[in-house]
Amino acid sequence: MIEIIRNANAARDRLRGLSRQGHSIGFVPTMGALHEGHLSLVGRAGAENEKVVVSIYVNPTQYDDPDDLANYPRPLEQDLEKAETAGAHIAFLPDYEEIYADAYRFRVTENQLSRELEGAHRSGHFDGVLTVVLKLFGIVRPDRAYFGEKDWQQLQLVRDMASAFFLDLEVVSCPTVRESDGLAMSSRNARLAPVERSIAPEFHRVLSSGRPTSEMESALKNAGFKVDYVERRGERVLGAVRLGKVRLIDNVEA
Ligand code: PAJ
Repeated sequence: MIEIIRNANAARDRLRGLSRQGHSIGFVPTMGALHEGHLSLVGRAGAENEKVVVSIYVNPTQYDDPDDLANYPRPLEQDLEKAETAGAHIAFLPDYEEIYADAYRFRVTENQLSRELEGAHRSGHFDGVLTVVLKLFGIVRPDRAYFGEKDWQQLQLVRDMASAFFLDLEVVSCPTVRESDGLAMSSRNARLAPVERSIAPEFHRVLSSGRPTSEMESALKNAGFKVDYVERRGERVLGAVRLGKVRLIDNVEA
């Protein structure tokens, strides 16, 4: 049975004990509503570490849209089952009061990359992400932490933070898991109406087309998306679009 820990100090003590016994610890932070994308991270963590910890915590400080936060699915029982089947040993399920006992007085702010792309459309988002990830790292103190390329900007920022604060862990990136039609797996996909769901795979198809980003943007608009951005950054093309109320992000190698 997967071991459930809700209390931060209990999690710290338990994990410190495992580390002292010589177990390497792989950590997969999530917000739950687990799908094959999350589970690929858990599987990788299990292949590379003796113990795997998954955290499930819907972090309020990274939301600027209260609707999005309120609508975030929380299927806990299924999540625990899926995490266990994928090889997780410990589920860490903290509550708000404990994680934000400081009432968010202390936070991690990054002043460059976090202001661009996603950050330009979601004010304060990455401060919330980096702050909660640093807190979780402080509790779990993993040897390796696993993040998906699906959230490319988040992955870069977590990497940069780990380096800037000399955190003693390795940030491991994992490829984006997709539906058979190319749509990147996301808990938000379930909120797409059937017509929107049938248009959605076009997003990945267009991003992968190798055309100039201005042409990609027109193609997406013609297909029925509202486009927040499509931008080339080094070796990647990153995009964010909206279909009705659902916002999708994706990125591919350019
Ligand atoms: P969440 O959206 O639940 O994602 C948890 C992890 O799963 C992230 O590293 C994300 O990049 C990865 N992931 C999601 N969909 C994926 C897919 N289709 N393929 C591969 N990996 C995928 O990202 C967050 O939660 C939060 O911001 C968090 C880091 C937990 C901080 O609150």
